[in-house]
Amino acid sequence: MPNTIVKKKGLIPGRVSEMIISAPEIATKARPGNFVVLRLSPQGERIPLTIADTDPQAGTITIVYMVLGKTTAMLEKLVQGDDILDVCGPLGKPTRLDKVGTVICVGGGTGIAAMHHIAKGHHRVGNRVVAIIGARSKDLLLFEKELASFCDEVLVATDDGSYGHKGFVTEVLAKRLAQDAHVGEVVGVGPVPMMRAVAETTRPFKVRTIVSLNPIMVDGIGMCGACRVTVGGKTRFACVDGPEFDAHSVDFDELMRRLGSFREQEQASYNTYCECHG
Ligand SMILES: Cc1cc2nc3c(=O)[nH]c(=O)nc-3n(C[C@H](O)[C@H](O)[C@H](O)COP(=O)(O)OP(=O)(O)OC[C@H]3O[C@@H](n4cnc5c(N)ncnc54)[C@H](O)[C@@H]3O)c2cc1C
Ligand code: FES
Repeated sequence: MPNTIVKKKGLIPGRVSEMIISAPEIATKARPGNFVVLRLSPQGERIPLTIADTDPQAGTITIVYMVLGKTTAMLEKLVQGDDILDVCGPLGKPTRLDKVGTVICVGGGTGIAAMHHIAKGHHRVGNRVVAIIGARSKDLLLFEKELASFCDEVLVATDDGSYGHKGFVTEVLAKRLAQDAHVGEVVGVGPVPMMRAVAETTRPFKVRTIVSLNPIMVDGIGMCGACRVTVGGKTRFACVDGPEFDAHSVDFDELMRRLGSFREQEQASYNTYCECHG
């Protein structure tokens, strides 16, 4: 069955888009925390994207992606009605959804869309969900309305102060943790420096903290080793052992180093693609 793009919406024009894709089996099986691996052409690379939402009745999944390099630029060229060659999933371990009382879900950039599905899961099991979302400025903020439809509170931080707290999400998080001794869990999804900062903010409060890691992935099923991360001194494959891990045990330095391993090749590949396709 073809994976047709049922709907496409530019969230930040030319930079971040949302796609609703026909994928009935994935929509039925996917749980918060799962991701898919897409391939756009027979020789193309495989890229992992988080399942931001599902509609099992309609047989669709939602993805939200930022245009960063060649494959996401190719994806951005597709329009409603086009087919995606392969959509493989649901992959990864689903989020552990324990009833813990209050859960604070922190999201930054496109990580907000990924966090949205996790936050929804916590809401469904009866947790009180506080979302803290951040962006550089108000126009770059994603999913505020969607989160507000089920979260108990949505707190916003922007770097330039154009909306909500002026500063980082972690400042809002620290203030909240100092005021509320009953937070059972914190979840952080976003750029690696943000997830590391979330881990350092919650560490003194001794709150269980989960981050969703985004190392380079190839097969997404535990065979190639590309997504190797170190957690608590042990090697883990993020695609099958994660992508969610205990934030206080992650080796973020190694993750940053490994994410940057192919930057030159990625840039060259993107430049060639842009020269050929405008
Ligand atoms: C489990 C998981 C979930 C993700 N969910 C999302 C999401 O919901 N939305 C979103 O915008 N991005 C998500 N990403 C990141 C996304 O996969 C990369 O942005 C994408 O692969 C970039 O490909 P590119 O060819 O456009 O850019 P490239 O120029 O190839 O790469 C740009 C940067 O993206 C990262 N990257 C490149 N290739 C891969 C790869 N195969 N696997 C992982 N990272 C890679 C590297 O940091 C690289 O420097 C996720 C990554 C993981 C591991
Ligand atoms: S992506 Fe290959 S082992 Fe995880």
